[in-house]
Amino acid sequence: MRVTFLGLGRMGLLMAGHVLDAGHELTVWNRSPGKAGELVRRGAAEARTLDEAVRGAERIVLMLFGPDSVREVLPALSGAPAGTLVIDSTTIGPEAAREFAVTAAGLGLRYVDAPVAGSTGPAADGTLGVLVGGSPADYDDALPLLHLWGAPDRVRRVGDVGAGSALKLCVNQGLGVMAAGLGESLRLGSALGVDRTVLLDTLGATAYGWLLAQKRPMLDADDFSATTFSLDLMAKDLQLAVDAADADLSVTAASLELARGALAEHSGEDYAAMAAHAARG
Ligand SMILES: NC(=O)c1ccc[n+]([C@@H]2O[C@H](COP(=O)([O-])OP(=O)(O)OC[C@H]3O[C@@H](n4cnc5c(N)ncnc54)[C@H](OP(=O)(O)O)[C@@H]3O)[C@@H](O)[C@H]2O)c1
Repeated sequence: MRVTFLGLGRMGLLMAGHVLDAGHELTVWNRSPGKAGELVRRGAAEARTLDEAVRGAERIVLMLFGPDSVREVLPALSGAPAGTLVIDSTTIGPEAAREFAVTAAGLGLRYVDAPVAGSTGPAADGTLGVLVGGSPADYDDALPLLHLWGAPDRVRRVGDVGAGSALKLCVNQGLGVMAAGLGESLRLGSALGVDRTVLLDTLGATAYGWLLAQKRPMLDADDFSATTFSLDLMAKDLQLAVDAADADLSVTAASLELARGALAEHSGEDYAAMAAHAARG
């Protein structure tokens, strides 16, 4: 298959690598040049322009920052062959997904939203969850690629366009609130004179266990530079969640405020910095 992959960030680079592993013909493009070196060494073609990237494509995968970046890139896909399937794995929110499906249809292209659950480890291992919104036929056409980075039992169609993105926002809303909550537990412990190591050991056996299993080394070192999922992305996703809900998400809104506050010091670093920021107050 001739596959075009747009967006070679932390996740995109790993996901595109699986396309090559599977023997497909791969063309890549990234807004800032210089990211494709390893993929090119392994046989990918690097396009200098979006127009060049999508010419002759049978599938186009988007793995960009968020809805604004997709909105910028999508019109430039007009040179792709009619009927090409666009698989948008960017975390964007359901309303944007429906907007992009309409834009894609206007260009003669098909569109599914297929955001992923899991970070760089599962992306490298090909064990991500993939939450797909789109028609059954488009889902079937997307599957051979989605199975390259998704675990067999974690790739699923959850409804029409937008459904995958709605589910994905719920997943990340939970993560953001947990990171904020963990930080406040640490702050409370500190205010009450609880030993921090004892506290972290104890919280590790509670609902925070999953988060601490991944992020404790960063918290212990007070160093969040080994980013897997950036604070900037988390702030974007919490904002998307607050904007998408026709409901009062006050805990989510407070977590968003916290993430925004942490950005001043920790932009580009891992979202675990939210917990440190909340712990400091
Ligand atoms: N990291 C994770 O653990 C994780 C897990 C699940 C889902 N996601 C989602 O997956 C997506 C990618 O995540 P990531 O961690 O790979 O992000 P990342 O490392 O920050 O990479 C973002 C990518 O988007 C590109 N980009 C940003 N603005 C753009 C624009 N206006 N036009 C064109 N390209 C633009 C960047 O290009 P430049 O190189 O030019 O900046 C880069 O290739 C995001 O939607 C994120 O929410 C991430």
